[in-house]
Amino acid sequence: MTSQHLRLGVNIDHVATIRNARGGELPDPVRAAHAAARAGADGITAHLREDRRHIRDEDIERLTREIDLPLNFEMAATEEMLAIALKAKPHAACIVPERREERTTEGGLDARGQHNQLAPIISRLTENGSRVSLFIEADPVQLDAAVLLGAQVVELHVGRYCDLHAEGAREAAEAELNRIREAARYGASLGLEVHAGHGITYDTVGDIAAIPELMELNIGHFLIGEAIFVGLEPAIAEMRQHMLRARARAA
Ligand code: PXP
Repeated sequence: MTSQHLRLGVNIDHVATIRNARGGELPDPVRAAHAAARAGADGITAHLREDRRHIRDEDIERLTREIDLPLNFEMAATEEMLAIALKAKPHAACIVPERREERTTEGGLDARGQHNQLAPIISRLTENGSRVSLFIEADPVQLDAAVLLGAQVVELHVGRYCDLHAEGAREAAEAELNRIREAARYGASLGLEVHAGHGITYDTVGDIAAIPELMELNIGHFLIGEAIFVGLEPAIAEMRQHMLRARARAA
């Protein structure tokens, strides 16, 4: 199972963050998506936030028009975002929790607690031809809830593991990694396709990529930061090498 291809989705939100810091059109996140495609990314991820702090509506329109790679459209479970997703018809719609005051997506979606709000949104997206992914914590309760909701995919929030690793909290990081491993195993046993994302760097990607049930990683902020120093294509290529090496070691 470990020899299965682990897809790399490149999140281009923070190219738009830099553009919006100045106003105007540069740097262009769609150009970053083209560069990601040249570097061998398997997909493009973009999060249209309610406050449009990075990706804007016209970026989503251009990404669907100009980029051949599958688009993973991250969205809050709101009527506004549902209408945009139904029109854009992305390959995948990843439902994330969203609070205006947060700097980034801080926790997973409460798929169990929000069942009644999420169910109609998931069925409308699915009927419209998008695969629905739920961004959740590595928690069996949330995995069971995702199945009940009819989601095909879950993305496990690995941000806490990445933070603990960066802080050097080795035991806590290992415990969190084990929670992610168990959730990936349990999710796959339920028939879910399991992805992971948030906060991944060269230092943390290896242990995550080695989890055999994972099918896709979505990585953004670190790659855009690295791009400042080495360029986006080399940064993506190096991330891919880390992923391949981890899978080869685990096989
Ligand atoms: N996956 C999801 C669901 C996210 O919300 C984000 C952040 O927008 C990412 C992946 C990428 O996280 P990062 O930018 O920290 O790599």
